[in-house]
Amino acid sequence: MDARLAVLASGSGTNLQALLDDPVVGPRVVLVVSDRPGAGALERGAEAGVKAVHLDPDPHATREEYDRALLALLRDEEIDLVCLAGFMRILTSEVVRAFEGRMLNVHPSVLPAFPGARAPAEALAWGAKVTGVTVHLVDEEVDHGPIVLQEAVPVREDDDPESLHERIKDVEHRVYPRAVRLWLAGRLTIEGRRVIVSPEDAG
Ligand code: GRF
Repeated sequence: MDARLAVLASGSGTNLQALLDDPVVGPRVVLVVSDRPGAGALERGAEAGVKAVHLDPDPHATREEYDRALLALLRDEEIDLVCLAGFMRILTSEVVRAFEGRMLNVHPSVLPAFPGARAPAEALAWGAKVTGVTVHLVDEEVDHGPIVLQEAVPVREDDDPESLHERIKDVEHRVYPRAVRLWLAGRLTIEGRRVIVSPEDAG
């Protein structure tokens, strides 16, 4: 049975686009959810013929309430894997637990360096010579779960936060679909904090 993917995104959705454009991952994306009404991600989803839902935080008094609505939507759509792609909300334990081992996130640094929403700017301010991309499984702490793939991106002396973030995103667009393909192929085994990637021809 083909896995059904949901992508959660608050922003422009370039990572969503990279997932949609991937020949293996794209056809599995059946739902895009955003908390922001005008998010580019919603347009990209609709453009690709995927159900695109603006799940408005306003009518929901608490994070728990919002996440219950989100969980109901994910269950209605029979989602197997959730991909966070610039989703700017911290998810409650209820959602994270419901998708344990079945929720991925892409983050613009080599974790555990520079977690949080301003990773490229913080890498620059720290004077880091190298930063990069992490794709990880989501656990109950922010930017914390077991790491699936990482790739380094050199910091240039003339970088500003935007130029650095753009180069990081170019790498994200390659690494995130690759990580999702590994998940889809059943090639990831989680052993505590470590994720073992089995060779293509194993099993
Ligand atoms: C990406 O850099 C991702 O790592 C971070 O948010 C950004 C989303 O960008 N979590 P986009 O909306 O996919 O262009």
